[in-house]
Amino acid sequence: MKVATVQMNIKFADIQHNVSRAKELIENSNARLIVLPELFNTGYMFDSPEEILSFSEDTNGYTIKVLESIAKSKECYITGGFAEKDNNNIYNSSFLIGPTGLCGIYRKIHLFRDEKRVFKPGDLPLRLYEIDGFNIGLMICFDWLFPEISRSYALMGADIICHSANLVLPFCPDALITRALENRMFFILSNRIGCESMGDKLLKFIGKSEIVAPNGDVLIRAGADVEGIFEVEIDPLQARDKNITPLNNIFEDRRCDMYSEKLLKPKTKE
Ligand code: ACM
Repeated sequence: MKVATVQMNIKFADIQHNVSRAKELIENSNARLIVLPELFNTGYMFDSPEEILSFSEDTNGYTIKVLESIAKSKECYITGGFAEKDNNNIYNSSFLIGPTGLCGIYRKIHLFRDEKRVFKPGDLPLRLYEIDGFNIGLMICFDWLFPEISRSYALMGADIICHSANLVLPFCPDALITRALENRMFFILSNRIGCESMGDKLLKFIGKSEIVAPNGDVLIRAGADVEGIFEVEIDPLQARDKNITPLNNIFEDRRCDMYSEKLLKPKTKE
């Protein structure tokens, strides 16, 4: 399966520009599965639900319609982030679109910093999507820092995690090597480049989009400042082998009898 990550600069609040830039990049690819960044069509630094409202879209909106027509003509699957409007709520969401239309939506569970003022936290149960017999999970940016989400997907049978991001902290591209190894899954990280500012706040996005294999190999990693679509051929069946050594299987060797539920919650003062 050929898979691709798109790394692009994003013009704040210019949906037409960003969607047509993504379209241009996708049209240069013959990958089956393509990942775009978080909020790839709107940009990131919105201050309030009111400010992002006119840039948010429902699942019949312009962005999804354009990508549906590309996915249909190229017979590919495309995932990426957008501000999803659902009745009076706005979510930091990602879509998965295939040749026959929208497959589904993921809503970011772990909101980062000021996103907590703008978006409702994700409320949809984790689920996998099947593409060509392989199982695909979606997550968005800061979700990576919570190993529970990757492990949940792994236990559900995921082969590939599509990770749409607007990373500003430096840790994720290296940390995903560990996520891939500890779960024996592929990760496709699509990050953006460029800067955004709001008042005296400035964010620089770190690029370094990458595709990581279940054995921790970084199959491709983009630079910090380049735009492009970066693709590799993978065999998703590699993610079905959960053995680290002939005598160590990452699922069977778990000692659930030794892990305390209490460890999953922060300690409270007695
Ligand atoms: C992030 O979650 N966009 C850092």
